[in-house]
Amino acid sequence: MSTDQNKFQAIISHCKEYGFVFQSSEIYDGLSAVYDYGQYGSELKKNIKDYWWKSMTQLHEDIVGIDAAIFMHPTTWKASGHVDNFSDPMIDNKDSNKRYRVDHLIEGYAETLPTEAGEALLAQMDELLKENDFAGLKTLIESNKIKCTVSGTVNWTEVRQFNLMFSTQLGSVTDEASEIYLRPETAQGIFVNFLNVQKTGRMKVPFGIAQIGKAFRNEIVARQFIFRMREFEQMEMQFFVRPGTQQEWYEKWKEERMQWHLSLGIDPAKYHFKDHIKLAHYADAAVDIEYEFPFGFKEVEGIHSRTDFDLKQHQEYSKKKIQYFDTEINQNYVPYVIETSIGLDRMFLLTICNAYAEEDLSTPEKADSRVVLRLPAKLAPVKLAIFPLTKKEGLPELARELMNDCKSAFYCFYEEKDAIGRRYRRQDAIGTPFCVTIDHQTKEDGTVTIRHRDSMEQERIPLSEVKALVLNKIS
Ligand code: GAP
Repeated sequence: MSTDQNKFQAIISHCKEYGFVFQSSEIYDGLSAVYDYGQYGSELKKNIKDYWWKSMTQLHEDIVGIDAAIFMHPTTWKASGHVDNFSDPMIDNKDSNKRYRVDHLIEGYAETLPTEAGEALLAQMDELLKENDFAGLKTLIESNKIKCTVSGTVNWTEVRQFNLMFSTQLGSVTDEASEIYLRPETAQGIFVNFLNVQKTGRMKVPFGIAQIGKAFRNEIVARQFIFRMREFEQMEMQFFVRPGTQQEWYEKWKEERMQWHLSLGIDPAKYHFKDHIKLAHYADAAVDIEYEFPFGFKEVEGIHSRTDFDLKQHQEYSKKKIQYFDTEINQNYVPYVIETSIGLDRMFLLTICNAYAEEDLSTPEKADSRVVLRLPAKLAPVKLAIFPLTKKEGLPELARELMNDCKSAFYCFYEEKDAIGRRYRRQDAIGTPFCVTIDHQTKEDGTVTIRHRDSMEQERIPLSEVKALVLNKIS
């Protein structure tokens, strides 16, 4: 059994062992903070994506989706402020040459202090970050004698800003090639398409545009598995509202997004809101939804009141009018924006951490245990595993019939090998909510044994009812 401290390590190992997440290019020793999703991981990730997409678009008549390109005109990032502002204060240790994000270095040290002292240190740090007081941050690090984890020394450089965007060249001939960026957020693809969507979709403010896609950031401190990656996916929605109504919509989206998380059956005590102390250059209010990971409460999603900053900037830089004529009040204006932005990979990590359980099933006669992923049925990679009890006597044929009937409706898994108990345990480990066993009695009375993952209870039901039962649980 894992202790709390090593539970996270156990989860990482489980993700690899059962085909959820692999280190990218592992045969070449991997690439730092870049990961690949395996056969079950990619299914789980897709199910999370679909759940978000459906809840945002299909269930909201006033939100439509788009899929914009990763490459955007370079001026986009000048207008958005990312070229000038998308940076973090960094500090290097002169002996090890290791670079740290200043807030992470101080936070790491604060965790080693008694609670009150740690909180006081973090309050000092927040104040200095808010003021962009880099000299003050360096003094704070030095006066607390915060050491580099590699060299163990306190020999620090000055604190400097470091831009997080990756750049590359567009075009084949070096002279003609221009520098472009891999997008660090998907939001700008929505802003530059505001008028295209509003006009072609005849959308009326208030309305939203949703998007799921890759984003790239040259994160300096890349740690905690897929929590902080250099290539990741975001699920973002920009909701365009009449100026002056942004506060009301901000509160509404805060509530609605929290309800989305809770709709997955996750314990509300595992979540809280955390207001931003230092607002981004575009925001007039911002809050994070934080989840209690095995390494503490951390951000999963941000809700930002982005004002009219982005649309106004694109209007200025493109010299094209980006306005909306509101027929109800007979006025032209640049809409204000409420953004909801959730990291798909972080939501994946949250889902796995929340589902992972090690259970002691020992009886006085026999030691036993299992690892189970208690995933919400609608997110589980495999919904139904189908097992013929033996490989003979017509049982595989009956099992195959059920498989053929169900596989177009949801993801099924078929297996003939090994004892039933071992087959159950393998499905528990990947979070399959239902297993069905076809045995000799099935041939006689058309019933099967269905086994429920969480309770491990087994019941006898008609074979003809299996598909409807699973569909009911995953819808
Ligand atoms: N458009 C606003 C925006 O990008 P953000 O707070 O920088 O805001 C939004 O990012 C979400 O994207 C975060 O809440 C987090 O879930 C996810 N995210 C950000 N950086 C990430 C990274 N390096 N790796 C994985 N997810 C990340």
